[in-house]
Amino acid sequence: TTQDIIFVTCTAPVNIAVVKYWGKRDEDLILPINSSLSVTLHQDQLKSTTTVACSARFKEDRIWLNGKEENINQPRLQSCLREIRRLVRKRRSNRDPGADVLSLSHKVHICSENNFPTAAGLASSAAGYACLVYTLSRLLSVEGELSTIARQGSGSACRSMYGGFVQWHMGMRADGKDSVAEQVEPESHWPELRVLVLVVSAERKPVGSTAGMQTSVDTSSLLKHRAEAVVPGRMDEMIQAIRKRDFSTFGELTMKDSNQFHATCLDTYPPIFYLNDVSRRVIGLVHRYNRHYRETRVAYTFDAGPNAVIYTLQPYVSEFVQVVKHFFPPETNGEELFYQVIKLCCERS
Ligand code: PMV
Repeated sequence: TTQDIIFVTCTAPVNIAVVKYWGKRDEDLILPINSSLSVTLHQDQLKSTTTVACSARFKEDRIWLNGKEENINQPRLQSCLREIRRLVRKRRSNRDPGADVLSLSHKVHICSENNFPTAAGLASSAAGYACLVYTLSRLLSVEGELSTIARQGSGSACRSMYGGFVQWHMGMRADGKDSVAEQVEPESHWPELRVLVLVVSAERKPVGSTAGMQTSVDTSSLLKHRAEAVVPGRMDEMIQAIRKRDFSTFGELTMKDSNQFHATCLDTYPPIFYLNDVSRRVIGLVHRYNRHYRETRVAYTFDAGPNAVIYTLQPYVSEFVQVVKHFFPPETNGEELFYQVIKLCCERS
């Protein structure tokens, strides 16, 4: 019967960083070497949907990703389950009667789906872990600093726990309790801001972010310089630009930060290449477009993959999309550039 199964379904959107996280100081707790800042997309765009069911009849925890059963014993998944159950125990020891509804010994079945390519550098793990932690917290009725739990699934996931403009404070503590996400401004703060995702390739990335950033920490002196001497000031400038809705500063900082992140990848030994020829042509196109208008109207950013994410303002979207279509006619050759207009605010599709 369904009566002895309780389940909850939630969705969480991806976030796209404008000041990138790259490099950990603690691998187990996932503590970063620098703070970062991102924009969380709309719920109805790129997102994960997760259902978690709980029953006394389940014999073990299990997980299905995009319909395929995966290994539940992955350490990061186990960290999230352990931390959530720790919160349940804490609540129970506070004699909260609600905690008795579900036994701690109950096992969970997790079913998670993304509506976009997994592991193509489109922040799938961020949405996935944010969604998992949030769904578990609803099912088990726990509250607390959930971003520190999502962080232990995938670093960037902590930023998807909030909407709008979100910073992840690197924190100073060894136990990670101050390495939390915080909303800088809600998405309603900047209604004209738009995000376009230009899907250059939906293939899995050759070097995952975990392995990539560790090699960078071990070998790149540029990364150390970036974390210590560049990011702190850039975080302040970025927050100011967002507060003032100053697109030209926001866009310029976003592009410089993406470029510096990819420069640290090149400075890694052996080097890591996430951008491809199409990515570089998109970069060139954006600069030519801005130069034409003598102002920064569009900005690109790239994560651990070749897909471009474009930030722009509503009045420029249709023209820029036309320009992209002109230079990258869709479905013409092997390296075609699919495009998808992702609207960040207000205009829900
Ligand atoms: O959270 P991870 O391990 O998937 O790392 C994400 C790293 C970048 O996407 C490249 C940058 C970021 O801040 O999101």
